[in-house]
Amino acid sequence: MNGPCEMERDIKKILYTEEQLTEAAKRLGEQISKDYEGRQLYVIGILKGASVFMADLIRHIRIPLLMDYMAVSSYGTETSSTGEVKIIKDTDFSVVGKDVLIVEDIIDTGTTLEYLTQLMRSRGVNDVRICTLLDKPSRRTAHIPVDYVGFEVPNEFIVGYGIDYAEFYRNLPYVACLKEEKYE
Ligand code: IMP
Ligand code: MG
Repeated sequence: MNGPCEMERDIKKILYTEEQLTEAAKRLGEQISKDYEGRQLYVIGILKGASVFMADLIRHIRIPLLMDYMAVSSYGTETSSTGEVKIIKDTDFSVVGKDVLIVEDIIDTGTTLEYLTQLMRSRGVNDVRICTLLDKPSRRTAHIPVDYVGFEVPNEFIVGYGIDYAEFYRNLPYVACLKEEKYE
């Protein structure tokens, strides 16, 4: 073992510990189970960032669900998106008539989710809601209702628990702010 992992040198501050993240997944999963009681969910995680949160969240959802993933890319730099969204991997099954819950890691401008919720509606879903682990409301430009939020975060660059900078840091078990010199 290399002692404290070398990724930790790039971390400015831990925002949410493993315990707090587990607690958030449980709280949101229980709320979703209540809200959708008697229904079936089509849960769509947005790759790759949401995969870690999604795995924890669905184990606290106590109603039948289909689990799926989409991969999208927004054109832009590594730390901010430009607004255009391209679908890299679509859902495996039809969403027509389904109660869709989109699971995201972090909402920034909201561009990605505005596009995806409109896409789902145009495909004829019964209902589409959003569950995000983290929300950065200060950066929002698209007007989308976010139905389930784990935590609101300040306008800093976040990594860990699935969330990356240039594809790294996803495997950190906590959510943290990256040191500015790492991405500026
Ligand atoms: P939006 O379309 O601007 O809401 O961007 C959402 C996507 O940008 C998220 O799914 C993340 O992939 C990425 N993103 C936004 N903020 C951060 C951050 O602080 N750290 C890492 N990725 C981020
Ligand atoms: Mg993402």
